[in-house]
Amino acid sequence: MTVHFIGAGPGAPDLLTLRGRDLIAACPVCLYAGSLVPQAVLQHCPPGARIVNTAPMDLSAIMAEISKAHHAGLDVARLHSGDLSVWSAMGEQLQGLEAMGIPYTVTPGVPSFAAAAAALGTELTLPGIAQSVVLTRTQGRASAMPEGEALTAFAATGATLAIHLSIQNLPQIAAELRPYYGSDCPVAVIWRASWPDQRIIRGTLDSIQARLPEGIERTALILVGRALSATGFSQSRLYAAGYDRRYRPQSADSPWVEWSPADD
Ligand SMILES: C[S@@+](CC[C@H](N)C(=O)[O-])C[C@H]1O[C@@H](n2cnc3c(N)ncnc32)[C@H](O)[C@@H]1O
Repeated sequence: MTVHFIGAGPGAPDLLTLRGRDLIAACPVCLYAGSLVPQAVLQHCPPGARIVNTAPMDLSAIMAEISKAHHAGLDVARLHSGDLSVWSAMGEQLQGLEAMGIPYTVTPGVPSFAAAAAALGTELTLPGIAQSVVLTRTQGRASAMPEGEALTAFAATGATLAIHLSIQNLPQIAAELRPYYGSDCPVAVIWRASWPDQRIIRGTLDSIQARLPEGIERTALILVGRALSATGFSQSRLYAAGYDRRYRPQSADSPWVEWSPADD
């Protein structure tokens, strides 16, 4: 018996990986985080599967469900939204499984920041503008930020920021970032990226709060940075004509020439 942790993606049911889909179809028990995992993903469960929404459960109740499946020899698909590597609460469940000696696997999913960037049609890293993306959040009711992870510390780098779990703090976020990025720095709020009712609100650090319509709460991502509306940035070297690289050696003297397909 194995517990398969599966990133269910940002919302659109067809943004589930093939591996995730096949694991869901093979597991007679499915535990899913009901607040964000789309119902349509559950259609991959086999007929007669035990399907449990863990949104109203605490950790010990979830671990009890897993333990029950373990004793019955039933594999479990454990679904969380987006990818499992960020804000999924997988870590504490893995600790519990380790303690109980229950095997597990982890299958990644499409994270919400990637779905948000796709909705904007934007690359978050552009040559000469930003070469880093910071996935972060601000302090919430249940989670204090570790010392050193202040938003202003990340802002000082000028990286593109993908701020999760924080739409309720937008005015304060904008105020903290203005001295670093400038009042005219582009901001986008992407609400329910990839869901049918997805909404995109664009503005600047000065204007974004006033542009936010009623009802934009909870499942929203805030993207901040010059990359969001940059034009005229320099092109990457990757596809530059004349750039000597492994897959495109430019001369017989190139250090890459021995890997050239022309040698085949
Ligand atoms: C508990 S975290 C889960 C993050 C998830 N593991 C991921 O990979 O993105 C929930 C937060 O992620 C962001 N989020 C998740 N799904 C989203 C979506 N479809 N559109 C916009 N933001 C989303 C929001 O900031 C939300 O408050």
